[in-house]
Amino acid sequence: MILIDLRSDTVTRPTPAMRRAMADAEVGDDVYGEDPTVNRLQERAAELFDKEAALFVPTGSMGNQIAVKLHTRPGMEVVIEERGHIYNYEMAAMSAISGTLARPVKSGDGTGLLSWPDIESALHVGGAYYVAPTGLLALENSHNLAGGICLPRARTVEICERAHALKLPVHLDGARIFNAAVALNETVAALSRPVDSVMFCLSKGLGAPVGSMLLGTRGFIEEARRWRKLLGGGMRQVGVLAAAGLVALAESPPRLHEDHAHARHLAEGIAELPGCSIDPESVQTNIVIFDTSATGLMANEICARLQRDHGVLASGFGNSIRMVTHYDVSRAGIEHALVALRHVTKEM
Ligand SMILES: Cc1ncc(COP(=O)(O)O)c(C=O)c1O
Repeated sequence: MILIDLRSDTVTRPTPAMRRAMADAEVGDDVYGEDPTVNRLQERAAELFDKEAALFVPTGSMGNQIAVKLHTRPGMEVVIEERGHIYNYEMAAMSAISGTLARPVKSGDGTGLLSWPDIESALHVGGAYYVAPTGLLALENSHNLAGGICLPRARTVEICERAHALKLPVHLDGARIFNAAVALNETVAALSRPVDSVMFCLSKGLGAPVGSMLLGTRGFIEEARRWRKLLGGGMRQVGVLAAAGLVALAESPPRLHEDHAHARHLAEGIAELPGCSIDPESVQTNIVIFDTSATGLMANEICARLQRDHGVLASGFGNSIRMVTHYDVSRAGIEHALVALRHVTKEM
């Protein structure tokens, strides 16, 4: 049985060009700052994002959590959209590592895209001494659990201007910011220019096997390097991984629009199925989240049948299923997934 893995865009295998670059990579000890390939990757990322400096980190979670640590002090709150990754999927690290508390907020329009009024009502700035002060505002673009929706540049600018006027730093979880940039027809630099720090993943839509980048001012990145080491993320001849990251940065962004078209096509097919509900217009990038409550089955059960009988892998959360497109899934794979979903929903 062929396998169509739509669980995440993290499941991609390195391309032949990445494997060649990894085999040929010039390396050195990166804890001494002597890996030329890592240094090139960091310089390239800083240039692309128009930030002073960048740091290669093993995972997006580590990049985000170093940022939380550097922007806050223990006892502070981090304001974040209620479905944000930093709050929901990073193992309470903001409390374990930084001693901070998440202050989750709902977006007023229900889309997952925060506006300044949503944020403002959750802030504790200059208030009573017995209230935990807000230390950081964390944004996410594209927003994974909100169906890959994108925060437009103008909204990011407005939020950051207001936050900075209150001396509040802003961190952007840009795990999939290249997808957002393609969907919004913006550059990654334009989308992240207003924020104080940004993390993006090489290992998601860009297709590299491992790695993420944290970017900010030179001073912030120097301090981030210390925290990366403290957290066990000081790696040695890691140019073998950075080499794949450089290929990913060069080759992947121009093809992300294909993943977005596949996701939209998938959503259009799903919208026709009995018991499944999604507005295909809401699918802006490579993530498709649809509601299955009217099928009468839990999403996990549907996913189990998709996998067992049709070789289609997806993720179930309560009454929702998430499918993520990526370069290892072709248009034919999307058609196969739709046929499989049609069979499974017909059996109900
Ligand atoms: C939006 C978002 N941020 C951060 C991460 C964390 O990345 P990693 O799995 O590399 O820790 C993920 C991973 O899925 C994500 O989707």
